This record gives sequence, structure tokens and C-alpha cells, in this order.
Amino acid sequence: ETRATADIGLTGLAVMGSNLARNMARHGHTVAVHNRTTSKMTDFLDAHGSDGDFVGSESLSDFVASIKQPRAIIIMVKAGEATDAVIDELTGLLDDGDILVDAGNAHFADTVRRQQALEEHGIHFVGMGVSGGEEGALNGPSIMVGGSDHAYERLGPIVEDIAAQVDGTPCAAHVGPDGAGHFVKMVHNGIEYADMQLIAEAYDVLRSVAGQEPAELAEVFRRWNEGDLESFLIEIAADVLAHVDADTGRPFVDVVADSAEQKGTGRWTVQVALDLGVPVTGIAEAVFARSVSGHDAQREAAQKVFEEKLDAPEVGEDFVEDVRTALFAAKVVAYAQGFDMIVEGSNEHDWGIHAGEMATIWRGGCIIRAKFLDRIREAFDDEPDLTTLMTQEYFATALREGERGLRRVVTTATAAGVPVPGFAGALSYFDALRRDRLPAALIQGLRDNFGAHTYERVDRDGTFHTQWATDD
Ligand code: ATR
Repeated sequence: ETRATADIGLTGLAVMGSNLARNMARHGHTVAVHNRTTSKMTDFLDAHGSDGDFVGSESLSDFVASIKQPRAIIIMVKAGEATDAVIDELTGLLDDGDILVDAGNAHFADTVRRQQALEEHGIHFVGMGVSGGEEGALNGPSIMVGGSDHAYERLGPIVEDIAAQVDGTPCAAHVGPDGAGHFVKMVHNGIEYADMQLIAEAYDVLRSVAGQEPAELAEVFRRWNEGDLESFLIEIAADVLAHVDADTGRPFVDVVADSAEQKGTGRWTVQVALDLGVPVTGIAEAVFARSVSGHDAQREAAQKVFEEKLDAPEVGEDFVEDVRTALFAAKVVAYAQGFDMIVEGSNEHDWGIHAGEMATIWRGGCIIRAKFLDRIREAFDDEPDLTTLMTQEYFATALREGERGLRRVVTTATAAGVPVPGFAGALSYFDALRRDRLPAALIQGLRDNFGAHTYERVDRDGTFHTQWATDD
């Protein structure tokens, strides 16, 4: 009979699973490991057995029996059907109070569904968002846990141990029940899309309008990384821009196909935002910009028909600083929208998510890690029910200081024929919020005219409909 000696179990030993298991073992936890194909488990033990204490099992039943009760088991297999299959197999082997953790990239709605189904079996199902890729999984990711208090009591100490640490605080937290962790992970990825799009546009504008070469721009980004913009993405943007292709001697950015890929979490974010009615325009523009980049046929057709080049307007030295302040301002808008979505999702699903805590756990381990997130956390600490990040003092100042730059970048880029959907979208959102009257009034008139959809008035309560005159 197998003795239960393991603190936690993990099944699914592809790269992410292996790295998480090694990370836990390196922190002194005894980890039970399993993989459908047994050779992967034995290969894992051969390669990494010296990282710490592992208990390898060939069968799922031995694996389950090797874990201390209440058991905590992390599933790290392909998202979708594979996850359901593994959950089904494990369910029959578990006892009341055991904890099953999906650390894969599940859609939060699937997590909610699985949690509900497993609750009937007395199993605590957890959706755990893990950010930071393979490197993060091994050396300290950002971890967003959705599940019951009972589950987090068991899981929390291990998860907080293996997460990235910033100023002594772990980048891991109990976000809320069921789908909350995967939801927040999804929005995190959406924000990552928006951030990358803005960085890409800043590069494009500086190169196309100010005529700076990639190597010079690498220096610009390095300088930016010493100020408010300090972040992992700006840092690696400098690295990528500085990189020279070994085969051709050309800047790396010039030999890469200019069609951006997406795995789908950005798209999920926008789909869910549409359902929630939250205008995450920064994320949406980023997702669509990637789609546009991949529409080769349309791009080729348009380039043939509209081939004349536009002259870039003259700009001076100060343009670089305008782009920097514009980038920061647009980033504030995109993050404000992302946090609006977290608050709205939390309200809709009754998750009780603490928005400021999300900023705390994104400070390390994940792709959007940045100094800036400290400011977001402080903003929510000062005012937990903040209506929008954009009006909080620090961010309002950034917007005031960046507004001129943002307008200049958008007008200059537009005149030069350089697409800036991220910058322009951020500016339009900012202008829409601060405008006293929006043309939505006319839209209400149109709706009432063609469909008797009724409208409200500014000067009286009630619902109104006008008998519109017709031509005949
Ligand atoms: P990779 O990441 O190497 O491309 P993958 O097909 O995405 O592999 O699978 C990742 C993990 O999910 C692997 O551990 C895989 O187990 P195998 O090594 O046996 O292929 C696991 N996995 C995928 N489908 C599974 C299923 N239906 N049941 C159990 N484990 C599954």
C-alpha cells in the first residue's frame, strides 16, 4: 500500500507542469508527480529528481494515494477536453474535502461549470491562473487562485511560497470563488495585448515619422525604462529592437514577418467585455490590430490600389518626449479599462474581487509586471471603490501631462498615414468620458424615429416617444 507522504500532487508533466512541480519541490514541498504517458514521468524524475522530494506514480490511483489528506492535486494538461477527461478520472478516486486545481489556461466559464459539477461530489475545484510562462512557472509566477476558502487554506501556503516575491509580498492571492482566478488571468492577458500594441505603435511612429533606426530606438526604450514606464515589456522591447539578425546583418524587426499571432485569451477578454458591456477599447483595438496584420490578401490588394506614400510631417527633438508621455497616458487608459472590467466581472458574478490586490500580484512574475502597478495598488488602497483609475491623482496627472503628447502623436501619425488604433482609441475614450454632451443624443433620436425605441429627457423624468412626421 502507498503511504501518503506528498504535500501536493501534480499531473501533466509537459513543460509548464514540470516547471511548477520543480518550483514546489525546490521550496521544500514533497510533490507527487504523474503523467498519462509514464515515460514522461520517469524522464522527469531522471532529469529533475535532485531538485527536491518527488513521489512518482504510474497509476492515477497510486498517485492519489500518495498525497496527504485533504489532498491537493494540480492538473496541468491541455485545456478543454483533456482537462475534463482527467477531472473525470480523478473524481472517482477522491474523498470529501479534497481539492482539485486546474492550472491550465481554461476559460473562466468552464471553471464555473466544473466547480458546480464537482461541488456535488464534495470536491473543491479551483481555477488557478498562472502567469509568467515557462520561466515564471519555474522561478516564480504570478498566481491567481479562484476557489473556496477551504481550498485556499490548503493551497495558499504552497502557492504563495512558489510565486514571485516583490518587496517580500508574494505575487499570489485568493482572488475569489470558482472562476474568479481564471477571469482575472484572462483580463491580465487582455491588458498585456493592449500594452504591447501601444509599445508597437510608439515604435512605428518614432521610426516612420521621426526617422529613427531600431538601434537608436532601443536606446530610447532603455531610457524610458528608467522612468514611469519602467516595465518588463519596455525592457524587452529595447532588447528586441537592439537585436540584429545574424544571417543578414539586418535589424531583427525588419526580417520578422509582420503578422502577429494570438492564442485567444485577448479575444476571450473582448468577447466577455462585450457581454458585460465594458468598453475595453484598448484591448479590442489590440486584438483587431493583430487580426488586421494577418489579413494578407486585403493588405496586398489595398497596397496595390492605394500605393502613394504620404509625407511624414516634420518633427523636432521634442517629439520623442511627446511619444513617451502619450504612451504613458494611453497605458493609463488601457489599464483603467481593464480594471473596470475586473470590477464589473466581480459585481456580475458576486466574486468580491479586491481590484488593488490584483495590481499587487501582477507586480512580479507576469508579463505586465511594472513599477506602475504599485501606483494602481495605492490608488485602490486609498479608495477601494474608485470609479475609474483615470481620475485618481497620480493617473490624472499622467493624463494631464500626456494629453498634449497623445493629441500630437495621433494627429502626426494620422497625417503620415501611420495607423495608431491604440493611441487613437485611448484618446477617444478619454475625450468621450470628459465631454459634457455626447452625440448619443442623436442616436437616441434615430432609434425613436425608426423603431419607436423611446428616449429619456434631460429636463424631466419619464420615458418619451415622439410622433415623427412622415413624408407621405
Ligand atoms: P505538449 O505541451 O508537450 O505539446 P500537450 O499535448 O499539450 O503536450 O499535453 C500536455 C500535457 O497534457 C501532457 O502531460 C499530456 O500527457 P501525455 O504526456 O501523456 O501526452 C497531457 N494530456 C493531454 N491530453 C490528455 C488526456 N486526455 N488525459 C491525460 N493527460 C493528457
